[in-house]
Amino acid sequence: MRHLMSPLDLTVEELDQLLDLANDIERNPEKYAHTCDGKRLATLFYEPSTRTRLSFEAAMMNLGGKVLGFSSAASSSAAKGESVSDTIRMASCYADICAMRHPKEGAPLVASMVSRIPVINAGDGGHQHPTQTLTDLLTIRSLKGRLNNLTIGLCGDLKFGRTVHSLIEALVRYTGIRFILISPEELRVPDYIREDVLRAKNVPFEEVIRLEDALPKLDLLYMTRVQKERFFNEDDYVRMKDFYILDKAKMELAGPDMLVLHPLPRVNEISVEVDNDPRAAYFKQVQYGVYVRMALILTLLEVTV
Ligand code: NCD
Repeated sequence: MRHLMSPLDLTVEELDQLLDLANDIERNPEKYAHTCDGKRLATLFYEPSTRTRLSFEAAMMNLGGKVLGFSSAASSSAAKGESVSDTIRMASCYADICAMRHPKEGAPLVASMVSRIPVINAGDGGHQHPTQTLTDLLTIRSLKGRLNNLTIGLCGDLKFGRTVHSLIEALVRYTGIRFILISPEELRVPDYIREDVLRAKNVPFEEVIRLEDALPKLDLLYMTRVQKERFFNEDDYVRMKDFYILDKAKMELAGPDMLVLHPLPRVNEISVEVDNDPRAAYFKQVQYGVYVRMALILTLLEVTV
């Protein structure tokens, strides 16, 4: 039985197959409409979510399966003191596969150790968010036609932003990738990403503060929200939250083919006037998230079509 804790749980070949499957689902949704008839997905969400939970649920329903779960710790027995291990033992009796989001780093990993069903990490604290990365990779490959030879700007909260950590880990496995890491001093990527991932793999990267300087060089700009819930103090958050605002004027500094991605939710970091720019891909990205989660559910349940 396989779980998904980090994008590295899939080899590059497996990842390519998964993205191919997602593209086939996009082209032929009816072919997959009953592939999970009689199967159930449990969504165990101890932290707020709109896209990730709903896209998992939509994905399972699109495959003919059913869903059950909870959407906050307060509405589950965690409020009574139940451990993650006990909760997953319960879920193993009710469902065939589960997606878990938790504010504590490593909680889904703990769950996977006692689970009788595949566990998908749907975001663990400031650590990893592998299914957002699958979404990002499918979006990039579908819209750019490749996952290599790209200069990628990651902008915003690179310290607490788990989507950024997973995306970097996944992309360093491709050739010709360069990163421009754009953040305020206080929100730079964690040391383990800089040393154990980027430097260890000799991936070219620079760390800059000004978005304007990076924009003309990018094939792709990945914007992120300042992760309010991970700050220890409100004043620091308030000081950081509007550090970057991508607007129409800044988009003029970028090339005609630069894509803008964002895992969403957006707060102020992309002005709504950018939404109609043909380079804005963040709402398309949401749709790709459903296809890739369908492909992931089929893969982990070992359903062959
Ligand atoms: C992200 C997350 O939860 O880490 N959201 C998402 O799943 N699309 C990004 C965020 O909350 O900023």
